[in-house]
Amino acid sequence: MAKRASRFVCQSCGAVSSRWAGKCDACGAWNTIVEEIGTANILAEATGKIAKIKGKRANLVSLDGDVEDAPRLETGIGEFDRVTGGGLVPGSALLIGGDPGIGKSTLLLQVAATLSRSGAPVVYVTGEEASAQVQMRAKRLGAAGSGVALAAETSVEDILETLQSTTPPALVVIDSIQTLHTSIAEASPGTVTQVRASAQALIRYAKRSGAAVILVGHVTKDGQLAGPRVVEHMVDAVLTFEGDPSHAFRLLRGVKNRFGPTDELGVFEMTAGGLAEVANPSELFLGERDIASPGAAVFAGMEGTRPLLVEIQALVAPTRLGTPRRAVIGWDSARLAMVLAVLEARCGLALSSHDIYLAVAGGMRITEPAADMAVAAALISSRAGVALPADIVYFGEISLSGRVRPVPHAGGRLKEAAKLGFLGAVVPPQGAAEAAGLAAREVAMLHELVHRIAPDGMPNEQDGAPHRAALSGAET
Ligand code: TYD
Ligand code: MG
Repeated sequence: MAKRASRFVCQSCGAVSSRWAGKCDACGAWNTIVEEIGTANILAEATGKIAKIKGKRANLVSLDGDVEDAPRLETGIGEFDRVTGGGLVPGSALLIGGDPGIGKSTLLLQVAATLSRSGAPVVYVTGEEASAQVQMRAKRLGAAGSGVALAAETSVEDILETLQSTTPPALVVIDSIQTLHTSIAEASPGTVTQVRASAQALIRYAKRSGAAVILVGHVTKDGQLAGPRVVEHMVDAVLTFEGDPSHAFRLLRGVKNRFGPTDELGVFEMTAGGLAEVANPSELFLGERDIASPGAAVFAGMEGTRPLLVEIQALVAPTRLGTPRRAVIGWDSARLAMVLAVLEARCGLALSSHDIYLAVAGGMRITEPAADMAVAAALISSRAGVALPADIVYFGEISLSGRVRPVPHAGGRLKEAAKLGFLGAVVPPQGAAEAAGLAAREVAMLHELVHRIAPDGMPNEQDGAPHRAALSGAET
């Protein structure tokens, strides 16, 4: 038997050191190093057991073998299937992360129930709640009679034994990976070592049995999957479930997917009867629009293959502070700084004595550079005190020279806007060719947009000089 020794493991990044320290050398976190006695050789021991069995020679094949696409287990919840790339892959392991209370357990219970109703055996293992709590939730969700087998269990060995002695399940849900413990590792539950060893055992079970395994993982305050950083590498797919607790809708995003795309977005709405799929998210995001006030622009965006219209709100207000405030919600602050710099330097818009607040409505988070034009429109509109027409959408990437660049999927964006009743669009060059019945206006340089929105308020932008005097009337 291998020699047992204690080692020190950082609970934040999983780095192993031979002695305790207040600060982890690897990730710089304080007070995260914990002694784990007798765990130095877990992996060696586990593999040692395997090593005793004589190995078989593996088949070496060429890459152009005769293979089909991974078979899919459609759960019947369309938004979930979209994000996973067409359904769960049998024999794969998937990790879902999210803040506490965001609705992970609710979503997975609904997925389990829907799949189970279609005839597939499903096991739901809860390590956090008592069976009665899950049963109560199932009743509320109308999932009680769905045939999902429920177990309240935290020992990996007991879970695997249970799974082996019942009808082989098509899906196993583990809620959550942090509550599990395995006797292979002697560290206490929740530590990186335990989480990793437990996940490893379950992933091995998935590969061997052909069942899809979904692991729930918690997220720390700073948005990291706690502990399961290591698990992220081991599983086939990682999804995050997010949303603003003060809003009803929740977004399911792919972060990693070995079998499909990672840029798809699933949209749900939390209702009294559980999570409802939102078939047309644009309607939801534009629902409470305040169309009469300056500073609001509708961005025709794309999330994966799906067009999504969201409102971008800007507030540009004069300030006496030496360093004006720049606050952004739902967009990249470096990107905002760039758009502001281009507006100042290329369009002569004086913004250095103004506080600027930018928010993507409804708690949505946008990463596309195509939002530049909508952001610029919202900023110009607020700065000039002129409300934008309510029936126009904006998209286009802005370069540092002030030029507007074409973006992908112009046709899809315009079609979605037309479907929702918009009449016009401000688009990059070559964007109007695909105008699905909309009056599309091409803008090649950003100063054209400034001139379009505020023809009187900001005259003579091209020379690049600030025109504070010309604007003061609009501000007050
Ligand atoms: P839950 O799935 O327990 O979150 P997680 O597993 O991610 O911690 O969801 C908890 C929240 O969802 C709770 O605050 C109440 C709300 N909720 C509803 O609004 N409607 C419902 O039908 C259910 C089951 C939960
Ligand atoms: Mg939960």
